[in-house]
Amino acid sequence: MKLNKRVTFLVFIVLGYQSTFAQKPSSVEVTDQKVSKLLAQMTLEEKIGQMNQYNGFWESTGPLPQEESAKLKYEHLKKGWVGAVLNVTGVDNVRRIQEIVVNESRLGIPLLFGSDVIHGYKTIFPIPLAESASWDLKAIEQSARIAAVEAAAVGINWTFAPMVDISRDARWGRVMEGAGEDPFLGAKIAAARVKGFQGESLSFPTSIAACAKHFAGYGFAESGKDYNTVDIGTYTLYNTVLPPFKSAADAGVATFMNSFNVLNGVPATANSFLQRDILKKKWAYRGFVVSDWGSGKEMIDHGFAADLKQVAELSANAGSDMDMESYAYINHLKTLVEEGKVDLKVIDEAVSRILRLKFELGLFDNPYKYCNFKAEKSNLLTPEHRAAALDVAKKSIVLLKNKNNLLPLKKSQKNLAVIGVLASDKNSPLGNWRLAATDSSAVSVTDALSAAKISYSYAKGVELVYGKTNFPDELSINTKDSSEFAQAVALAKQSEVVMMVLGEHGMQSGEGRSRASLTLPGLQQQLLEAVYRVNPNIVLVLMNGRPLDISWADEHIPAIVEAWQLGTSSGTAITQVLFGDYNPSGKLTMSFPRSVGQVPIYYNHFASGRPGPKAEVFWSHYTDESNKPLYPFGYGLSYTEFSYADLQLEEQLSGKLKVSVKLTNKGGRSGEEVVQLFLHDQVASQVRPVKELKAFEKVLLAPGETKLVVFELDSTEFGFYDQYGKFIVEPGEFEIMVGGSSEDLLKKNWTLRK
Ligand code: GLC
Repeated sequence: MKLNKRVTFLVFIVLGYQSTFAQKPSSVEVTDQKVSKLLAQMTLEEKIGQMNQYNGFWESTGPLPQEESAKLKYEHLKKGWVGAVLNVTGVDNVRRIQEIVVNESRLGIPLLFGSDVIHGYKTIFPIPLAESASWDLKAIEQSARIAAVEAAAVGINWTFAPMVDISRDARWGRVMEGAGEDPFLGAKIAAARVKGFQGESLSFPTSIAACAKHFAGYGFAESGKDYNTVDIGTYTLYNTVLPPFKSAADAGVATFMNSFNVLNGVPATANSFLQRDILKKKWAYRGFVVSDWGSGKEMIDHGFAADLKQVAELSANAGSDMDMESYAYINHLKTLVEEGKVDLKVIDEAVSRILRLKFELGLFDNPYKYCNFKAEKSNLLTPEHRAAALDVAKKSIVLLKNKNNLLPLKKSQKNLAVIGVLASDKNSPLGNWRLAATDSSAVSVTDALSAAKISYSYAKGVELVYGKTNFPDELSINTKDSSEFAQAVALAKQSEVVMMVLGEHGMQSGEGRSRASLTLPGLQQQLLEAVYRVNPNIVLVLMNGRPLDISWADEHIPAIVEAWQLGTSSGTAITQVLFGDYNPSGKLTMSFPRSVGQVPIYYNHFASGRPGPKAEVFWSHYTDESNKPLYPFGYGLSYTEFSYADLQLEEQLSGKLKVSVKLTNKGGRSGEEVVQLFLHDQVASQVRPVKELKAFEKVLLAPGETKLVVFELDSTEFGFYDQYGKFIVEPGEFEIMVGGSSEDLLKKNWTLRK
């Protein structure tokens, strides 16, 4: 080919390449172009409208505003003064409101419809703390996926979940909503739940936007008291609090929600260190931040803002993009921009983030994407959804004690007594965040026993609360009326085995439900002891939303099962475990204290300068209580027995550390074991926890089967953040530990070289 032809040919190749590849903007760029185009058409008022979220007048999940101006108003919708609503569900309701905005406002920008779909919508799954005890990331993702399918069917396109707050304090009522005390497991679960809610793509019909909350540090409320001061160092912030949020961000979570607490003396809603420096700059996060319910105006109570106008100024400038239920932005932002106290760029950036999500959800293509009457009729509480809820519920149950293998019971068990009001309670198993569940829609233990044709006699023993409302005030716990003890004790006396179902009612944990005591509420402990005195052959089933102090039970009761609040299929899951249809495989993700005085108590603590035990008194301990939890992080028994042997460490050519262990099922039935790998950095430039979870695998083994379980750690697993947020990996001596709980471990030392 002549030179000039070759040159011409090459030119065509290059131009062709350019036209083919260079002109195709990415989907992100396409969306950004759409956002910019729309933004350019918007008035300042319309932009501020997008930053305003109103509660629909159907339901409230926070203190309702009293001023008349604060109710969701028709004209606000028409003027485009609303960007999102919450607690409006139902295709008919959603469609009506969306039509006003789309058809009657000037630009017809569709609304986001948010709701707290925390662990299911109509089909209620186990509370998140229970699900975390399954250590089954696929099952947890599936749970969120089904919650999304049901939420999308009723018009919801945004859930205020997953809550990813790490907490070490069972007094805090919201531990039920999280994944326990460990940041590594919390990070894995955060990603699984984000993927479940958001699906393959936000444009899919059953995908809904997720929301990582509460950013950040909310779970460290002092004395476990909700909404209380948080005062933690940045070292704890970077190494314990932030990893689950970063994992959610890396998983593509569409939004963040900030929190009620202060951090370093600055309320999270106006904390630009959190929202701008870390989230939007360091992590380059492109989603938007919504305030928590009224968290903006509460800055006045914090003594951080003088009035609502200053709330608007401080929040917007600090990167809080949407105002939930403070009415600060809608009432003051325009003036603040005109006064030059909030730059228009701040508004444009916030609005761009909000519009971007609406484009990604496909709401501009079809504002009624989530208004499908057929889906609303056919996608809720389906047999498949119930089956999935049952599956993860069974996997969430933790066997805490089983002396003399009292469990599993035989279905032919004669003279079985069932005692405890929670055994027949069809509401409490739904947990606190059951917003849309139908009342009494859970399968109770007694329902499930009857369905399984297991004969039993029942006695309530003691009412838990006075009053029979759905939301009993926890101050009405029954601490006086023991009138039904006699009947329960008489039944126990004449029975072979007694199943006692005790714990908390469904509204005794959750938001605003902190407790100063962790013992069994009301007269339940007295009932348990009264029954024990006539018949010690007791299986204790706990239904609760937080770790409890059950020290007396651990000392006296032969079999104890942690059954949390397991949702719609609760009773069936419990029965299938108690009678051996399913071999319990759950492991605790939060330490159970011996007494509330030990709290906060957690496995991944620092050693202190005086670890013990020591012969004299001058070491870190109590004179009246052990340092050890009653049940540690990662603990859970099985109906079979597992043994660990032959821990091996081997450096790979890749530089990764291969850790292997032989796991054997020594018992007579198959079972699942959560193999946990921890490490301890023995000497570091900042003190490190005595152990940190760095890998786990849930393994099913047949009787007698042995499996080589292998993990690979890359060097980053050995690293940590310094107090400035810099990630560092330091060579040195490490202990590598593997076992079936944080306190039952094989150990080997490993030297990490440069
Ligand atoms: C509540 C909770 C938050 C929830 C929000 C909307 O106060 O703190 O988790 O998503 O308000 O209901």
